Parts: sequence; structure tokens; C-alpha cells
Amino acid sequence: MTENAFEKPKVAGVIGYPIGHSKSPKIHSYWLKEKGIDGYYIPLPVEPKDFDSALRSLPKLGFSGVNVTVPYKISALKNVDYVTQEAKRIGAVNTVVVQKDGALSGYNTDAYGFIENIRNSCPDFEGAKGPALVIGAGGAARAVCVALQDAGVPEIRVTNRTPEKAKELVSDLRGTLTRTPWEERSEAVDGVQLVVNATSLGMQGQPSLEIEFNALSPKAIVTDLVYAPLKTDLLRRAAVRGNRTVDGLGMLLHQARPAFEAFYGEKVSVTGELRTTVLG
Ligand code: ATR
Repeated sequence: MTENAFEKPKVAGVIGYPIGHSKSPKIHSYWLKEKGIDGYYIPLPVEPKDFDSALRSLPKLGFSGVNVTVPYKISALKNVDYVTQEAKRIGAVNTVVVQKDGALSGYNTDAYGFIENIRNSCPDFEGAKGPALVIGAGGAARAVCVALQDAGVPEIRVTNRTPEKAKELVSDLRGTLTRTPWEERSEAVDGVQLVVNATSLGMQGQPSLEIEFNALSPKAIVTDLVYAPLKTDLLRRAAVRGNRTVDGLGMLLHQARPAFEAFYGEKVSVTGELRTTVLG
């Protein structure tokens, strides 16, 4: 039997606390099976006091990398050896890749996942075509704003219940971001090509996002980062008036692709069958 490390099963996982809610094991296991890869993807519930040492143990345990989820995306940024510019701008790391020398590289694939989902669902989407409205100013909203900036959106209107957080986001990312008071969010849909719900409103057990669409162009796309339920009240209301809608599951699936490719070395795609598997 050879001792060659490259012939060992490839192991990756997801670190969070708690971790039971994560869909990542289902997504990665689906691709491992589809590709016939000798590998594992393991949910890793790690308590806050152990996070740093758990991360540093990954090379010794033979992991090729991990995804990082709530509540560790910001801690991961501070605890890896290298961080991409994109992850720095987003202010969070959701993917850690173990390098051959044992160093840890931090990436954020959320912005990529967001824009890939929009482009796959609406192939005619062009950032430069017009403004966008982003509702929310948390970690998810940050990734969306970076994605829209990089896609060339000329004006990104940010609105959030807590104004200080919107202010911070707008000042951190600068340039094309502007702030709209929470009370004026319905007026702010005027002239946008895209509306994004990046709050947790509309999620199972949460109230719906209240926003009027009277001023919204019939050509605008409405997307929700919430994927449970898949058809949120917001998406339903947008669809009823004829707007195109994009659900949040696609972002979750597309953000996982570059991570899988880094962990296991094979390219994969997002298909209807994967969607069905993850929803089941
Ligand atoms: P995530 O990483 O998913 O972005 P987060 O950082 O906790 O999670 O951000 C949650 C977002 O949902 C925030 O924009 C939050 O608004 P506040 O900054 O005012 O808290 C928004 N949100 C959550 N519950 C809300 C509610 N009941 N009404 C309005 N906004 C809400």
C-alpha cells in the first residue's frame, strides 16, 4: 500500500455552531457521488472557544479545506494566512483552502454565487444597465453589494432598518453605493433594474418584507436571498405583477461550486436535479 498523500480520500467539511441547518453537506455529497470521487464532506460543529485551534488543525488532519458558516465568517478572515481582496472587501471568509505547505487561504464565494445565480436565471442581465436596490446591510448584503459593484452597476441603493449599519456598509464600499432611509424603500424601487432582499424577512417564522412595487419597472428583476420558503411572499407579489423573479437557492448552490473545485479538484455544475436533492 502506498503512502502517497494524494491517493488518500479527499476530506473537506463545514465549520459552524450549530451546524445542523447547513445545506452544504447535501450539496457537496451530491457532487462527490456524481463525480465518483473518493472523498468526504463532513459537518463540523465547533464551539467558539475551539474555533481557532480547529482551523489550525485542518492541515494536520489532512483536510483539503472547509466552508465556514455562522458565526465564524468574520473570525475566519482574521485567522487565516492569506485572504483574497474580494473576501477583504466583503469582510468575511466562507471558504478556507489548505495549501500544500499547510498555510490557510481564505476566500469568499458569496458574491460570485449571487451574480452567477442572477446571470444563469436572467442571461440578459447587464450590471451597467441601471441602478439596483439592496435591502439589508448584514454579511449577505455586503457580498451582494460587492458583486453588483464588480458587475458595473452604476448606483447601488442600500436601505436597512438600522441606519448605522447601512451607513457603515456605504462608507466601507464607497463609490457607487448610496443610502436610502428604511421608510423610503418603496420609493427607492423607482428606476432600478434589480431589487434584492438581503434581510432575513420572509424566512420561515419571520414576518414578510413590506415594500410597495407601484414605482417598480415591469422589466425589473426581483430576487430574494431567503430560500426557505423558496417562493417568498416578496417573490410571489413581484411575479403577480409580471416581474421576473430569482429565488435564493441558486445563490447557495453557485457559491458552493468554487469551493468544491478547490477541495476536490473537479469542475461541477448546478442542475435541476441538484436543486431537487437539496430541497428534499
Ligand atoms: P446575514 O449574514 O444573513 O446578512 P445578518 O448580518 O444578521 O445576517 O443581517 C440580517 C439583516 O436582516 C440585517 O440587515 C437586519 O437588519 P438590522 O441591521 O436592522 O438588524 C435585517 N433584519 C432582520 N430582521 C429584521 C426585521 N424584523 N426588520 C427589518 N430588517 C431585519
